[in-house]
Amino acid sequence: MLIRRPDPILPSEITPEAVYLERRRFLRQAAFGSAGIALALAGCEGESAEEAPPADEPTPYKDVTSYNNFYEFGTSKEDPARYAGSLKTRPWSVVVEGEVERPGTLDLEDLLRPFTAEERIYRLRCVEAWSMVIPWQGIPLGTVLERFAPTSRAKYVYFETLHDPAQMPGQNRGVLDWPYREGLRMDEAMHPLTLLATGLYGRELPNQNGAPLRLVVPWKYGFKSIKSIVRIRLDERQPPTSWSTSNPGEYGFYANVNPEVDHPRWSQRYERRIGELRRRPTLPFNGYADEVAHLYAGMDLQRYF
Ligand code: MTE
Repeated sequence: MLIRRPDPILPSEITPEAVYLERRRFLRQAAFGSAGIALALAGCEGESAEEAPPADEPTPYKDVTSYNNFYEFGTSKEDPARYAGSLKTRPWSVVVEGEVERPGTLDLEDLLRPFTAEERIYRLRCVEAWSMVIPWQGIPLGTVLERFAPTSRAKYVYFETLHDPAQMPGQNRGVLDWPYREGLRMDEAMHPLTLLATGLYGRELPNQNGAPLRLVVPWKYGFKSIKSIVRIRLDERQPPTSWSTSNPGEYGFYANVNPEVDHPRWSQRYERRIGELRRRPTLPFNGYADEVAHLYAGMDLQRYF
């Protein structure tokens, strides 16, 4: 398979943040006036251009790209922006294997094509009780998985980040059992809110945010949104994940944002949006309960946290 290096983005093609925000404001007004216009402009099918309600102003690009968690480059929030330049994101390929009828490799070029077409603004909530609102570009994970024809035995999806300590020096330290691993239940993976993201703010994904592609699962704590993915495996069994393996008492497999279930070392009742001083009450499923609560009907969410 040929992975073509996309043409470099010219400075004139990059949407400045102010223009971007103005465009979003226009889209929002259009959404109130006529949902149809907003849908057409955003190039999304069957859903509103704005995933987050109007009160959610996007977090400034600078904050989104300078306050990160990416332990492969260090454990402080500033480390990823400082050190992730050593990650080489081309060529890049993602193996898709396991319970699929057509195992193969994901074509990065294919994913980068809808880069400007599909935009979604999602809240991302970290387990440490801070949150951001981010305009992403990407493609729903379910659309991608369908290409590989999941078998009826596929119950879970496992994801793995690149393991290469030369490019990711944080992997020389035993903070986690590398590579970073994550997993979703099949219905969570196929849910239209689950995005395989390739960019943000109209630009290609910066390395510190998980280039060239990462997961975004907006109703779960941020650690589920694994970065720089190189392997996707469909499995019959629930896969081991980095955080739930390293500290099962603190990090569960599901990790749905839930103000009723505290982290053992801090409350999850309130969160601080980056750029704001006041704290906000944490919303169940990070504000996406209408869309996803049914996935967990009948489950004890205190136990399956
Ligand atoms: N993916 C990898 N490979 N390594 C990481 O350390 N951190 C996770 C998640 N994905 C992490 C990762 C955590 S804890 C969070 S909160 C989010 O990425 C942060 O995403 P952001 O830096 O884009 O805000």
